[in-house]
Amino acid sequence: TEKIGGTASSKFSKVRHKVPMLSLSNTYNIAEIEDFDKRVKKIINSSQKIEYILELKLDGLSISLIYENGVLLKAVTRGDGQIGEDVTDNIMEIESIPKKLKNPISLEVRGEIILPIPNFNKINEEREENGEEVFANPRNAASGTIRQLDSTIVSKRGLDCYLYYLVNAQNYGIKTHLESIEFIEKLGFKTTGIFEEYSDFKTLEKSIEKWRIKREKLNYETDGLVIKINNFDFYETLGYTTKSPRWAIAYKFPAEQVKTRLLDVTFQVGRTGVVTPVAELEAVNLSGSIVKRASLHNFNEIRRKNIKIGDNVIVEKAAEIIPQVVNVVFDDRTGQEIEIQEPTNCPVCNSELAHEEGLVALKCHNPLCPEK
Ligand code: IVH
Repeated sequence: TEKIGGTASSKFSKVRHKVPMLSLSNTYNIAEIEDFDKRVKKIINSSQKIEYILELKLDGLSISLIYENGVLLKAVTRGDGQIGEDVTDNIMEIESIPKKLKNPISLEVRGEIILPIPNFNKINEEREENGEEVFANPRNAASGTIRQLDSTIVSKRGLDCYLYYLVNAQNYGIKTHLESIEFIEKLGFKTTGIFEEYSDFKTLEKSIEKWRIKREKLNYETDGLVIKINNFDFYETLGYTTKSPRWAIAYKFPAEQVKTRLLDVTFQVGRTGVVTPVAELEAVNLSGSIVKRASLHNFNEIRRKNIKIGDNVIVEKAAEIIPQVVNVVFDDRTGQEIEIQEPTNCPVCNSELAHEEGLVALKCHNPLCPEK
């Protein structure tokens, strides 16, 4: 039960999942969810009311945790669904994952490793200041962290884990999905606590709309909702396709993106002297807040996306994350756009800027620069 840090000497070993880790089929609107409901009713051929559980679709890295006699034995990533990687050493560093259960039972439970948004923002700020490449989103950061060979890094980043699936729940005398969630919560596992029960579509539809807004207040990223049948009796009849179960479906939230104009690019000098280009945008409303600025990270990013001043750009924002310039709308180009020049001198102290060996960032090396 002790946490043991340290550096893994080799890459992660491969583990075959006893029960494959499937994915969910996606839907993008309520009509497709209704089709799912019709399919379900047709297969089970029952006039019986069907209870659905609505829960959040966490945007992280899926993980399977294996316990023997109540002790955490192994943690395996999804991999290709059949074979995953043993990341036990790193998982041991996640505080919210119990290393020992309240009951000495053997089980396999699945869920999502996530990086809370405030931690993600902090890590990226630090990376930007150190001239390192920033993580594109919390999911990439979580998955990059779990695949670190040095588990001390994992412990510093503050990953979290929410569980949502007990493998072979019927073996424990459990009859519904809700009961299985209660069961794992009692054993000490963390869940989102959001499991809503529905049997009619009008209320389900309203709830989907409710969560589209409410999810922005959560401190972790969600990319949609998952709708699962509550009663396990139906699972066997419904069965599986090659990729996903027929007793559940995912609903993906529409991406929150908007078009606006890049008016100018300014340069910000950080505490360590790293110079970051900032997009000055025509103010635009993006999922409830006014966006005027977005980080462009570094010049590699500007070149890669071929961004010019005067361009129409697509801006994206997820939860509290700093808005990002996703891409340029090249069809809108008039030829009047202006190339963005990499500054040669510090915008604050005017001393010459230089790239540090091996790093993408441009840096002000004047130790007396007031911005430092
Ligand atoms: S259930 C057999 N519930 O979404 C299906 N998955 O495309 C077991 N995910 O790989 C998955 N939140 O990593 C389930 N509340 C949730 C989820 C969830 C996120 C991920 C999971 C899976 C992918 C499905």
